[in-house]
Amino acid sequence: MSIIAVGSAKASPGVTSLSVGLGLSWEATTGRRAVLVEADSDGGVLAARFGLALTPSLVELSGAARHELTISRLRDNSQLLAGQLPTLVAPSCGETAALVLSPIAGRLAEGLGRFDEVDAVVDVGRVRSGSPSAELIKHCDLLVLVARPRFDHLVPLVHQARRLVTNEIPAALVCVGDRPYPPTEMAKASQLDLLGVMAHEPRVAQALGGGLPDNRRHRRLLLWRTLAELVHRIHYRLQTPAAGHEAA
Ligand SMILES: Nc1ncnc2c1ncn2[C@@H]1O[C@H](COP(=O)(O)OP(=O)(O)OP(=O)(O)O)[C@@H](O)[C@H]1O
Ligand SMILES: [Mg+2]
Repeated sequence: MSIIAVGSAKASPGVTSLSVGLGLSWEATTGRRAVLVEADSDGGVLAARFGLALTPSLVELSGAARHELTISRLRDNSQLLAGQLPTLVAPSCGETAALVLSPIAGRLAEGLGRFDEVDAVVDVGRVRSGSPSAELIKHCDLLVLVARPRFDHLVPLVHQARRLVTNEIPAALVCVGDRPYPPTEMAKASQLDLLGVMAHEPRVAQALGGGLPDNRRHRRLLLWRTLAELVHRIHYRLQTPAAGHEAA
């Protein structure tokens, strides 16, 4: 299994929305199943935003997986987002989420890495050193850093990108929208490979909440097209890590 961590340097650029979009689009593009893990130590929003139950969540998984994380334990503690995507939600309270994540993040990374047949998209929220999800970031196959193409997102992105290089964490950039700065400029300034752009969609939660459309005409809508393109580039990069520049 590949672990694709999705996080941000600062602000709220759209990490959760991109994680959901990638998770929903994953199988149609790669032919491999995906699971979505909400590992945001500031607290989860998926349950509230997509009408899921508050339990089971990471709390129940942390009890069940005290010794080893198995695929059946993961499945038992997941819920189906939009009726399609197995999702492990975080507790909505930030303090609880941080308390649960700290001891389980390492085992979660190790367990997810062991499952051959499923890939994991992990919403790690804000990327900070010493974060309770640090072990998931450390062991991911790719960290997708999300930013809006704006100056106030650029400065923290540049600092974060430097830290990631120092810590040898493979990272690449996705911009949400393509204005006012060209995403290529954001990539150049941060020296991150640009995977692409997630379309700016004002009703993004509503669109994602309906799940991946089952008819081809709707999948041609800009949001789903950009998500499929991003999945394609991430998958390609996971298979050929040195090809990051070519993929961008
Ligand atoms: N592709 C998009 N187009 C337009 N608006 C978006 C898009 N993605 C996210 N948003 C909006 O940006 C806001 C933050 O989205 P989201 O919760 O996905 O970001 P986040 O980075 O996970 O935030 P947080 O730091 O709170 O976890 C929401 O209002 C959401 O509707
Ligand atoms: Mg979020």
